[in-house]
Amino acid sequence: MDIGPAAVKTMLRLNTSAADLSRAADILKGGGLVAFPTETVYGLGAGGFNPRALARVFDAKGRPRFDPLIIHIAGIEGLERVARLEALSAPRRGMLMDLIRAFWPGPLTLVLPKRPELPGLATAGLSSVAVRFPSHPVARKLIALSTGAVAAPSANPFGRLSPTRADHVAEGLGNKIDCLIDGGPCSIGIESTVLSLAETGEEPPRLLRPGGTSREALEALIGPLAAGTEKTEGTPESPGMLKSHYAPEIPLVLHRPEEMSVLPRNADEGFLFSSGAARNAWLRGPGSSGGTEGPGGTGGPQKPPADSGILALSESGSVLEAAANLFESLHRLDRLKLRLIRAELLPEEGLGAAVNDRLRRASLRD
Ligand code: TXA
Ligand code: MG
Repeated sequence: MDIGPAAVKTMLRLNTSAADLSRAADILKGGGLVAFPTETVYGLGAGGFNPRALARVFDAKGRPRFDPLIIHIAGIEGLERVARLEALSAPRRGMLMDLIRAFWPGPLTLVLPKRPELPGLATAGLSSVAVRFPSHPVARKLIALSTGAVAAPSANPFGRLSPTRADHVAEGLGNKIDCLIDGGPCSIGIESTVLSLAETGEEPPRLLRPGGTSREALEALIGPLAAGTEKTEGTPESPGMLKSHYAPEIPLVLHRPEEMSVLPRNADEGFLFSSGAARNAWLRGPGSSGGTEGPGGTGGPQKPPADSGILALSESGSVLEAAANLFESLHRLDRLKLRLIRAELLPEEGLGAAVNDRLRRASLRD
């Protein structure tokens, strides 16, 4: 049983009407915790300048205090309240402006020098701050109506699957938060890309977490990126880089497409294919792959029922759809209480790299 600040609470569930959003904004202004939809995943919001509310976020998620939060803003004014842009070199500032013009609002989080006025709890004591301007209209309205700077990690218990639907939030954190805004499923379905511009040296910006904005799109605009290195001890550079993360409750094993296609069918195992075509070829059995027919094609196998434990991330093989369905598919497989989930890796490009990153972390156990 929980005691203290994260004690069992009754959560208010709201919709996205103007009246409900203004009610949720009041709760945020009063120091409460509000889960809300963004285009990536649901966030667990707290006033960014309110240390007590920030502390409650860590308690509700069971998140270690060394793991810094992202500050969500609803306009460029918000950026200046939390980040010291004047501390950047002129070329870096130019790069920042190019990134903002091209990708904000949207699924790109930028790590920048922090303003001292922002409580250290928000950034886990770091001298940098991660800032994101979400494109989801509900998130934007809520932020603008409340404090203009809302700290929001993904709204899941620490280390578990991220929430892409309101019900995921209710299941994971329902008794620990004040309010949940149900805005339907998240369209991108995978967290924002985290890019650090905070270093003062000449090295290229570092990609700390692959996500909803592809590396290729960033590099096309600002040139090659350096990789965030996973530290082996002490505080990770970006704790989303902790190896085991985004994990379902049951073990997950990854397979390349050629391995996946020849796996035997076991009733106590779940199978997560990248596409409807890959799933259908597997259902037809080894040796019969290579057909192009999709579901509904003559003689093609029937699409298995949703509770069969056999899923495809995208019927059509679209990587955007695969990303949007990733966490919901893992949540669904998790509920079936299988012995094991087997998942097929996507081609390592565009959002496929971010999907594979989440699958790899989900496959690791501490
Ligand atoms: O799409 C998203 O980014 C979602 C939605 C709700 O906006 N939020 C999200 O937050 O994924 P969270 O807390 O689950 O992940 C934040 C990531 C972590 O990997 C954290 O370590 C990194 O951002 N981060 C935050 N501040 C940082 C900083 N100052 N330096 C480096 N990494 C930072
Ligand atoms: Mg998270």
